[in-house]
Amino acid sequence: MRFEGKVAIVTGGTRGIGRAIATMFAREGAAVAVGYLRRKGPADETVHELESLGARVRAFKCDVRDRDRVREMVAEVASELGGVDFVVSNAASGSNKPAMELTETGWDWTMNINTRALLFLAQEVVPYMRQHGGGRIVSISSLGAGRVLPDYVSVGVSKAALEALTRYLAIELAPEHITVNCVSGSVVETEALRHFAIGEQMLRAGRERTPAGRMVQPDDIANAVGFLCSRDAEMIVGQTIVVDGGFSLPFFWE
Ligand SMILES: NC(=O)c1ccc[n+]([C@@H]2O[C@H](COP(=O)([O-])OP(=O)(O)OC[C@H]3O[C@@H](n4cnc5c(N)ncnc54)[C@H](OP(=O)(O)O)[C@@H]3O)[C@@H](O)[C@H]2O)c1
Repeated sequence: MRFEGKVAIVTGGTRGIGRAIATMFAREGAAVAVGYLRRKGPADETVHELESLGARVRAFKCDVRDRDRVREMVAEVASELGGVDFVVSNAASGSNKPAMELTETGWDWTMNINTRALLFLAQEVVPYMRQHGGGRIVSISSLGAGRVLPDYVSVGVSKAALEALTRYLAIELAPEHITVNCVSGSVVETEALRHFAIGEQMLRAGRERTPAGRMVQPDDIANAVGFLCSRDAEMIVGQTIVVDGGFSLPFFWE
């Protein structure tokens, strides 16, 4: 087990990709804190499931937009689980509209959850990582950061800024043995897709057009996060690793 004795925080760790990441940490021996916004049911299920793997687990209702609550949550994790070694900024949301229809509220909602949260989460966890002589921060992005999808402007821009923020944090924190990197994925079947008018089309494209022959699964993203948190990734700094089975590369399709 690679992460025995370590403590991991996963925001949005109660559903979809975040839950797979939390499960990976639990299987690898870490104590795990999972954050969520509103839905207590999946949070309780996640705690139950990870405890059955033998992990120490806590679930926190913590809106990542709320700096004070984030500070409180990180302090509670550190005192209850014994510090903080890994943080995955995974929670995301978005106002799925064309640019000409986006409201100020929708824009701020998306940017604050998807981008700003990483900055202030990093400010809270880094003092605890220093106490342990280093740590790992991983953000989760999507192909829309560099490509254009219908109704994805607010999320796409927030993810592009997230990848840039990842690089800036990485350079500032590298001398302290804190690595900061990003994992970006193509379409993954989670509840998030229900909020897209073209959700079904996205899934079909993922199934039919992924050169590797199958869709990316939540575990594929979790495995990349596990690698970035391992000793083997010590010298990977400020990178975005794309986990898409080759989906984003072909220029022409048959
Ligand atoms: N699904 C895809 O196709 C795909 C592809 C590439 C990248 N990604 C990225 O992967 C990550 C996870 O996506 P997903 O599809 O697994 O999402 P999801 O199934 O919609 O789950 C979202 C999680 O984030 C939590 N959350 C949402 N807003 C929050 C807030 N303000 N504060 C705290 N927690 C909040 C939710 O809590 P509640 O349960 O309380 O709502 C839930 O646990 C995101 O960063 C997403 O952009 C997804």
